[in-house]
Amino acid sequence: MKIAVVGTGYVGLVTGTCLAETGNEVICVDINEKKVEMMKAGKLPIYEPGLEQLFHRNIAQDRLKFTSNLAEGISEAKIIFLALPTPPGGDGAADLSYVLGAAGDIAKIITDYKVIVTKSTVPVGTADKVTAAMQQHAAPGVEYAVVSNPEFLREGVAVEDFMKPDRVVVGTTDERARKLMAELYGPYVRQGNPIIFMDERSSELTKYAANSFLATKISFMNEIANLCELVGADVDMVRRGIGADERIGRRFLFAGIGYGGSCFPKDVQALAKSAEENAYDFKILNSVMEVNEIQKNVLTEKVKKYYKGDLKGKHFALWGLAFKPETDDIREAPALYIIDALLEAGATVSAFDPEGMNNVQALLGDKITYAQNQYDALKDADALLIVTEWSLFRTPDFGKIEELLKAKVIFDGRNLYDLDKMIDCGFYYNSIGRKE
Ligand code: UGA
Repeated sequence: MKIAVVGTGYVGLVTGTCLAETGNEVICVDINEKKVEMMKAGKLPIYEPGLEQLFHRNIAQDRLKFTSNLAEGISEAKIIFLALPTPPGGDGAADLSYVLGAAGDIAKIITDYKVIVTKSTVPVGTADKVTAAMQQHAAPGVEYAVVSNPEFLREGVAVEDFMKPDRVVVGTTDERARKLMAELYGPYVRQGNPIIFMDERSSELTKYAANSFLATKISFMNEIANLCELVGADVDMVRRGIGADERIGRRFLFAGIGYGGSCFPKDVQALAKSAEENAYDFKILNSVMEVNEIQKNVLTEKVKKYYKGDLKGKHFALWGLAFKPETDDIREAPALYIIDALLEAGATVSAFDPEGMNNVQALLGDKITYAQNQYDALKDADALLIVTEWSLFRTPDFGKIEELLKAKVIFDGRNLYDLDKMIDCGFYYNSIGRKE
């Protein structure tokens, strides 16, 4: 099938590349000409495990192309995906100007039946708005269907999530569009995972409900962790104890330093906003956000308490900057809040992250120092703070840590180490929801 993907951000690129991988002919459209040239030259603008190989293969086999010319990109496509940004506007609601602008532009160009798919995370009712934007500009008699098809990709495992999705959600009431979408996604659900068809509004809400529910799990566990510390329980034990119940499930129960990234904070906020606009007081969501705000400070509060509120002149090593492992994404990364708080309190920071350093350097410049490797970050530091659970931080050389740090002190926001082992090694070890 011929496909166009408008917007080559994270979602657009993964979608375009993975759709090409099953034999579709995909053209990715982006207004950023420099980026288009870069991709044409075979350079992938993002880091995502497994994507590069597919990207190169499909470019080489002529199934994946790039253009900055919208008309050229969509002229032959049957299905046009909109994977454009929907940043939070000033009032917290998603800003739809990119999506609606593109829909209008597409409407001006098309001459035959097209399926326009919103892949971006958009508030309930957006399909109607996209349809209205298209109606305004389309030539009389030109037919099209506007479909909602939210993405459920996790950064770091996005290729796997796309190629073998737990489910595909498609919101459409147009029979022709339904058939085309079923045909397109057929190869990805051969194991029997469902393509769930529904109306556009339910599909749009499904995306927000999914992310908000997952964020709720995290905030709930973070509160359990805080309580664990007060009553002398261990959150990892509680997690295992409840996760074995299939109704609860083992995944997404890890306490930490708050959820971050480009999705959860934005989507929870947007759903709460949309509830508010509909005069509904979504009490749980408001608490989920409030708990997350508090949790972002938990690690720095522990540090401050340990040094009796005086961090002036102290130097800290930070392991991890990206909001989670296997990505260079630092949007809403807990590390940024922690760095801010430490610098504010008069401390200095030396950090290491396998992928996120360039992004942080572009943002913070020389406010902190950037280490060559994880051990280099420890030199002359008063303590080590673990912020992102990269695999290479999981089994470090504790002898080397001891040698390089000024004191044997570790604050761990991700509960990477065994408590008994840390006692054996003689470290002061303070993690989340476990004994000090
Ligand atoms: C999330 C969802 O998991 C995807 O299904 C969704 O498609 C995506 O948002 C999106 O809307 O685009 P992502 O933001 O890549 O994916 O990252 P997650 O792995 O879900 O992690 C989100 C945050 O929750 C991270 O800060 C992570 O550290 C935190 N988290 C996750 C926890 O604190 N505890 C957990 O048990 C799991």
